[in-house]
Parts: sequence; structure tokens; C-alpha cells
Amino acid sequence: MVVVLDYNKLVDPDCDLYQYIDDAFGNKPGALGACFVSNVPGFPELREKCLRYGSQLAALSQSELDSMVDLESCYMFGWSHGKEIMNGKADFAKGSFYFNPLHDVPASEDPEFAAKFVEYGRPNIWPPSLPQMKHDLMELGQLIIKVGKLVALHCDKYISKKHPDLPPNFLQSMIEQSMIPKSRLLHYFPISKEDAEPTPDGSMDSWCGLHIDHSVLTGLTSAMYNDESDPSFPQVDTSNKDIQDALKDAGLYIKDKDEKFTQVKIPKEYLAFQIGEAAQVASKEALLATPHLVRGAAYPNMSRNTLALFMQPNVDQELMPGYTFHDFTKDIMARHYEQ
Ligand SMILES: [Fe+2]
Repeated sequence: MVVVLDYNKLVDPDCDLYQYIDDAFGNKPGALGACFVSNVPGFPELREKCLRYGSQLAALSQSELDSMVDLESCYMFGWSHGKEIMNGKADFAKGSFYFNPLHDVPASEDPEFAAKFVEYGRPNIWPPSLPQMKHDLMELGQLIIKVGKLVALHCDKYISKKHPDLPPNFLQSMIEQSMIPKSRLLHYFPISKEDAEPTPDGSMDSWCGLHIDHSVLTGLTSAMYNDESDPSFPQVDTSNKDIQDALKDAGLYIKDKDEKFTQVKIPKEYLAFQIGEAAQVASKEALLATPHLVRGAAYPNMSRNTLALFMQPNVDQELMPGYTFHDFTKDIMARHYEQ
């Protein structure tokens, strides 16, 4: 069961949500490292508007898509398709659109910043054919960060009880001061029935491989499934029995401390948040980041659109004394190449 936090309680800094945070993010068996937030004002309307852009983007001309590819940031801004590696192969199953939801151009005054941290310090790149997209996606991104900061505040109250020596409002201030949050609009292309099935080795990650987020906190919308055969990309009819069958086993799966997978279906109107590994390190493991994957769904012409927002700290933010987020990401890369 995923813990549901009511936005109206989150906004009250004095509300005692200790047990909710413990059940959602605590370092204990059964905790999924995730929670839902209900009743976020304005979110359902913004989600409807924004997720459809995933299908609209993927249908743009190849030349417009190519104009949004940013080699210099290693495809970490603008459009990215077939550039990332999943399970040892180029990943053509999804297209991603990356942007900084707070700063349309890099906020750092430091001229060395962009050169040193190219994957963070580049300007956003928007498609000329979708003029409203920038406004809508930036608004959604900023709303998710606003709610994320409230979740972080209650996590901070939790970790200060476990580790009173940690700085107060540690996680919330990391998110607040960060100039480099990154949002990713994801478009999963329709896949065949065979591709959606678990492989003979039991892997279910047909859309996104098993991984742990590196952020402090990741915000997630529920997925929207669209019909790609219609140029207006209407949502599929989820009352259709065949579509229900196709979606039954699809979506996000989280592995808990006991290595047990739980399928997590985010209700349409809810935002979801997952603890990232930076928060696990910063909280001296009071909070636990959990590995997760996305399993595909196959129905003719059915795509999946969703948005993730990675609230990562500034690169020079110390997660522990003398150990910055930049050091942490270097260690992750080293771990990755050792495997
Ligand atoms: Fe993730």
C-alpha cells in the first residue's frame, strides 16, 4: 500500500506526519520509498494539458526534433531518443524531453559552471511548433517542486528525530537552493505484445530498466495513455476490456528492502514522490531510496506519456561533511562502470 499524504496537511508545518513519513520512506521492510499526495490545487488540469505534449512532440517532423537535440549536454536538455542505453542496448522504446523547470537559461553567474557541468548548465530548448508548451510545462514543474518542498519539510522533521545532529531543514533547503532541478517528459512508443511480456529471465522492465533515482526527491505524475492513430491523440478508452487487460500488469514496480516487487498505480489526480539516493545519503540512511522499473503495456497504437521531476541539489551541495553531490554522482558513475 502506498501512503497517501493530503496536501492540506502537508502545508501545515506543525502537522505531525511522522508515522506517514516512516511508512512511506523509512528504512524498514515494506516501505516503498514513495508516497502519493492528494488534493494538490490545480494539478489535475495541468497534468491533462502537459502530458499530451509527449505525443505531440514525438509526432513533430524529424528536422524539428533534430533541432532540439543537445549533444553538448549529452542529450540532457531538449529531445533525446535512442541515445540512452538500457540493458546494454540503445533505448528506442521511449523519447524524452528534458528541461529545467525553474531556470529557462542557466541561473549560475559562474562562467565555468556551464563548461564544467554541461548536463546541468544549458538553456532549455523548446519546439517552435508548440508555442504554449514552455508555459505549461514550466508551470507544472514549478507546482511539483512546490509540493516536493513540503514533502521534504516533513521528511526533515522525521530525520531530525532520528539524527538530531543533522542540519535543520536539510533536504528542504537543498531543494530550495538548487538551480538545477530537471524535468523529463517521457513518451513511451506503442510496443508489441511480445515486447511487453516478461523476458525468459523474468525481467519485466520493458519500458524502463531497474534503477534508483539520484535526486533528493523525484516527483511523478500518473501516466496518460493516448491513441497515436488519431492526430489529436485522444486518451484511450480505459473502460474497454482489452485495454484494461493490457494495462493490468503495466506501469511502475518498486522493489522494497525485502526485495519484493510491488506494482504501484498512481491515481490520476495524485502526485507521487520517490525518495532519491541523495536523500538517503544525506539522512544517514534514515530514509531509503528504492529500486524501480516500468513494465510496458501493449495495445495497438497505444502510447504512454508521463512526467518525472528530479529535485537534485546543486553540484557543490554537501550531502555529508566534505562529500558533495558532485562527488556522489562521480561515485555512482564509477559503480556503474565497475558492473
Ligand atoms: Fe526513476
